[in-house]
Amino acid sequence: MEQKTRIKGNVHYVGVNDRAKHRFEAMWPLPNGVSYNSYLIDDEMVTLVDTVDICYFEVYLRKIKKIIGDRPINYLIINHMEPDHSGSIRLIKQHYPNIIIVGNKQTFGMVEGFYGVTGEQYLVKDGDFLAVGRHKLRFFMTPMVHWPETMMTFDETDGLLFSGDGFGCFGTLDGGFMDSRMNVDKYWNEMVRYYSNIVGKYGGPVQKALQKLGGLSISAICSTHGPVWTENISRVMGFMIA
Ligand SMILES: [Fe+2]
Ligand SMILES: [Fe+2]
Repeated sequence: MEQKTRIKGNVHYVGVNDRAKHRFEAMWPLPNGVSYNSYLIDDEMVTLVDTVDICYFEVYLRKIKKIIGDRPINYLIINHMEPDHSGSIRLIKQHYPNIIIVGNKQTFGMVEGFYGVTGEQYLVKDGDFLAVGRHKLRFFMTPMVHWPETMMTFDETDGLLFSGDGFGCFGTLDGGFMDSRMNVDKYWNEMVRYYSNIVGKYGGPVQKALQKLGGLSISAICSTHGPVWTENISRVMGFMIA
């Protein structure tokens, strides 16, 4: 059962699909729906990367519990505060009251302002580092990909890049989430639509973000929308290169 969610080692996909929403950000049509991706690192310190839209909290929590049972989650890393990813923060905090929220200076004001969530926080700056057991995570500030607080988290142990909206695309994940195990044809067009409408408006910041990622040896791109990319990394990165 657990195997189905595994990306690599003890890192799992715990995202959800939205087939009900007609327009993304009330503007962009969603003929193929959209996924909200979240990731769980089941290491010594259990770590959740981003959450999902609050409408899908129940199925989300069920997915998490299928992997960790009744064990607590130690860290919640927030790469991006837009509600399609931050919407479940308050409920996660209710279920896991001792969870430590990991974010940057801009994140925490939003967490409190949007959701009234306070409690223990771990503040990170560009280039900072957090070991959660075998996995060593490094944080890169990537402001305006897509909001000012946006950052990316790179797992130096296994080369997984948790890129937030960066490298995302529209389209639900049907019966699989990894490019190596599914037909990804339908996503290329959705990537063009996503990039040109959502992230691509911030061309300068996106190029700066790409420069920061330039030296990393990435084995998988784990974005917050669309497939986990392992076999098409250069093609996916190519969409964001000016
Ligand atoms: Fe966003
Ligand atoms: Fe998003």
